[in-house]
Amino acid sequence: MSRVAYVNGTYQPHGQATVHVEDRGFQFADGVYEVWSVFDGRLADFDGHLTRLHRSLDELRIPIPMTRQAMERVLKETVRRNRVNEGLVYLQVTRGTARRDHPFPAEGTPPSVVVTARSMPLSKGNASAEKGVAVVTHPDIRWGRCDIKTVGLLPNVLAKQAAKEMGAAEAWMVDEMGLVTEGSSTNAWIVDENGKLRTRDTQSNILRGITRAAVMKLIEAEGLELDERAFSVEEVKRAREAFYTSATGFIMPAVSIDGARIGDGKPGPIATKLRTLYLDQARDEAI
Ligand code: PDD
Repeated sequence: MSRVAYVNGTYQPHGQATVHVEDRGFQFADGVYEVWSVFDGRLADFDGHLTRLHRSLDELRIPIPMTRQAMERVLKETVRRNRVNEGLVYLQVTRGTARRDHPFPAEGTPPSVVVTARSMPLSKGNASAEKGVAVVTHPDIRWGRCDIKTVGLLPNVLAKQAAKEMGAAEAWMVDEMGLVTEGSSTNAWIVDENGKLRTRDTQSNILRGITRAAVMKLIEAEGLELDERAFSVEEVKRAREAFYTSATGFIMPAVSIDGARIGDGKPGPIATKLRTLYLDQARDEAI
């Protein structure tokens, strides 16, 4: 089946879809993005991701390229044209095309907007979640505004590649204090040795994950204890469970870190339950 991409107002065959060589996303990573998961052809947590997109744009003073309604239409149409039932839709907005010069381009330069969608069967993620995955640690060498979801992802790319080369599914980045910040494309969690859920607070330099926020609500509804506080690699090794969250992996149990077994080396009951609850809710609430 041929794929289709939305580029600046038109739907184009994916293989031929292009942006200008002087697009500031290409030249400077001067742009932001969002990823929605798709259930039954519908978008999960539409509002959460759209609100974060607006915040990212606002923080970087990139104009909001279209109304909420238009954005919803374009995302849904891209999903429809690509016949995605289970999968994801990706949106990127950059500061537009202008002669390469570091300062912002002239006022009125339209932002560039690209949307793509692709199928990703849930069964694949479910199989990984049933076995649990390996994570490895990697130094966090990123800039000071990781709360903005920019396309400047080179440190994340290097971390994920290092994980892949070590046979792991994700890299957990570690700050100079030895504390885990987040995954290369996920938020990191443990159930600590006392049975308390832990994830790093978002006042620090990490992304405010939309899946993280949804999982926090589930934790509250389930009456589980949560401590929004950073944890060390040593604490991960002593933890009962570990997992990570994102729009593409949902809740993914991690069963080893740097080759050391976590808990009993199998996905834990809390991570497994949260995954089920999250998937049911995301599917129910998708639009
Ligand atoms: N990544 N932390 C980082 C660094 C991320 O890139 C992401 C998402 C998350 C999880 O956020 P959310 O729950 O809102 O997806 C945390 C997306 C999926 C990506 O880059 O493909």
